[in-house]
Amino acid sequence: MSSKSELLALPVSSRRRPPQSTFAGITVVLLSSLVIVSWLRSFYPPIAIQSPRSFYHRVHKPEGICGNSSAVSYAGHIGLHGDTEESPKRSFFWYFEAEESPEDAPIILTIGGGPGTSGMMNALQGQSPCSATEHGLAANPYTWTKRHNLIALDHPIGVGFSYGTHVNNSRSAAYDAYDFLQKFFVLFPHLARNKFIISGGSYGGVYVPNIATVIHEQNLLLKAGRGQPGAIPINLDALIISNPFTSPASHFRWLLQYRCMDHHIHNETECTQLYSALPTCLDSIELALAVPSVPNRVNATHLCYGGIHADFHGIVPEDIRRTCVPEDKNDPVACHPRFRWFSEIFSDPTVRNELGVPENLNFTGLNMEVNQEFQAAGDMIQAHHLLYPPLLSAGIRLLHYIGKQDANCPWLGTLSFVRLKLLETPFQQAFLEAPDVPWPPNSRDVGTVRAVGPGAGNFTLILLEEAGHFTVADQPALAQRIVETWIANEAWF
Ligand SMILES: *[C@@H]1O[C@H](CO)[C@@H](O)[C@H](O)[C@H]1NC(C)=O
Ligand SMILES: *[C@@H]1O[C@H](CO)[C@@H](O)[C@H](O)[C@H]1NC(C)=O
Ligand SMILES: *[C@@H]1O[C@H](CO)[C@@H](O)[C@H](O)[C@H]1NC(C)=O
Ligand SMILES: *[C@@H]1O[C@H](CO)[C@@H](O)[C@H](O)[C@H]1NC(C)=O
Ligand SMILES: *[C@@H]1O[C@H](CO)[C@@H](O)[C@H](O)[C@H]1NC(C)=O
Ligand SMILES: *[C@@H]1O[C@H](CO)[C@@H](O)[C@H](O)[C@H]1NC(C)=O
Repeated sequence: MSSKSELLALPVSSRRRPPQSTFAGITVVLLSSLVIVSWLRSFYPPIAIQSPRSFYHRVHKPEGICGNSSAVSYAGHIGLHGDTEESPKRSFFWYFEAEESPEDAPIILTIGGGPGTSGMMNALQGQSPCSATEHGLAANPYTWTKRHNLIALDHPIGVGFSYGTHVNNSRSAAYDAYDFLQKFFVLFPHLARNKFIISGGSYGGVYVPNIATVIHEQNLLLKAGRGQPGAIPINLDALIISNPFTSPASHFRWLLQYRCMDHHIHNETECTQLYSALPTCLDSIELALAVPSVPNRVNATHLCYGGIHADFHGIVPEDIRRTCVPEDKNDPVACHPRFRWFSEIFSDPTVRNELGVPENLNFTGLNMEVNQEFQAAGDMIQAHHLLYPPLLSAGIRLLHYIGKQDANCPWLGTLSFVRLKLLETPFQQAFLEAPDVPWPPNSRDVGTVRAVGPGAGNFTLILLEEAGHFTVADQPALAQRIVETWIANEAWF
């Protein structure tokens, strides 16, 4: 621990104990999500994590790296279950304290997408008090931290500065996140009872309900006296999702409507060919959900991601208003200069030193190895949407806020998913009948809100006209207002 982290003079030993036993989660992923949900609810064995009182951690309090921002933050690594010096497994986080009474302020956990992108990206693209720019880090006037604490987590292991033993599926990754959080609250015990919100987008549409499900299940186990020894309940209140990939069937069913019919991104020849590949893709998804073997899920991954793909003719899929012809067609982030800014920022010795990053550790904005491993395990093609009804029924509120300029995860797929795939929630009928009301009040063509339930709603959909895949970066002021309204649970109008 750094001498700068005076706050952290806590009863924690940084000596690691040998791993106690391994988590038997791998068989789980072979079952369908439907099976997982009911099976887990009845007799999921307690996960084996190290005693939260004894784990590797290293926390710094960075200063002066974020322009003229005076925000207080802590960054560092926490060792997860199984972590040893020889075989590490360490999550990197950057925790930004709320400006107003952090000890009571709700906590937002923010992660990345991908699978394989760093959790620092969303944080430094508009959520945290610190923004990545071409010239380094600068203060962000639209920070989400005026009234909220924000924890940016490099999730799963392998992305950003998190390093060591990888996992290859979102369920195992969610146990890692749970383990991380339990240990985080040992280091920051004054935050342990605060309201807890999880935020993610893109592949976060898979990560977030998985993390929420593990927290919810473990809370129930703790209540029944069968939780992890030493674990505490996490006050999970709400979820915030932007432009998700959640339901593969909804996603692929509507993808071409957006790309071919509504926006003419591909030409006629390509669209004819793409439409001819669609039934095979949709059938392979149906098979993979009905018989969720790894080969079936991997087959569907290839048939859909590979089969439903054509040239973008210089249009940037994440924001169809932009054009860009990448120099290297195989570089997935060539048209997103922010990824370069992140590499530059996180290789700057001053930044690294303040964050306390070990010398030999490089920042991985997008880890393609993690991406491939999740693909090989068939993580994408599952009935992820079935994770939501138990959460919604337990009173955990769900917000989707969606940029309509995104051809990567087009809003039509999300609309289809929230309308049709959540039929078993208590809110569905009301949601189908509710209008999309222009928002903010007294503005035109900015966005719409459809909310069901009191306050900001239990189940709410916001559509934003002028945002793409990176909703927050595109509409920082609106995103800040949405998040503040949502977490305070205030009416939109
Ligand atoms: C902080 O710096 C920004 C430019 O990066 C400037 O616009 C702003 O006025 C500064 N704020 C203060 C309080 O100095
Ligand atoms: C993958 O799916 C296609 C189309 O349904 C089928 O023809 C093929 O046999 C499948 N391959 C495997 C390995 O299951
Ligand atoms: C469609 O685009 C492809 C490039 O992806 C090009 O080779 C083809 O000539 C185009 N076809 C038409 C009809 O424009
Ligand atoms: C980290 O990056 C530096 C500079 O690009 C490179 O020389 C080094 O090999 C990298 N280290 C690892 C562990 O990948
Ligand atoms: C996923 O990871 C587990 C544990 O490392 C491994 O046993 C399993 O073979 C992996 N699955 C695939 C499909 O690669
Ligand atoms: C909806 O959210 C409110 C909080 O705004 C909560 O009290 C209520 O229990 C939720 N409704 C359901 C049916 O879960």
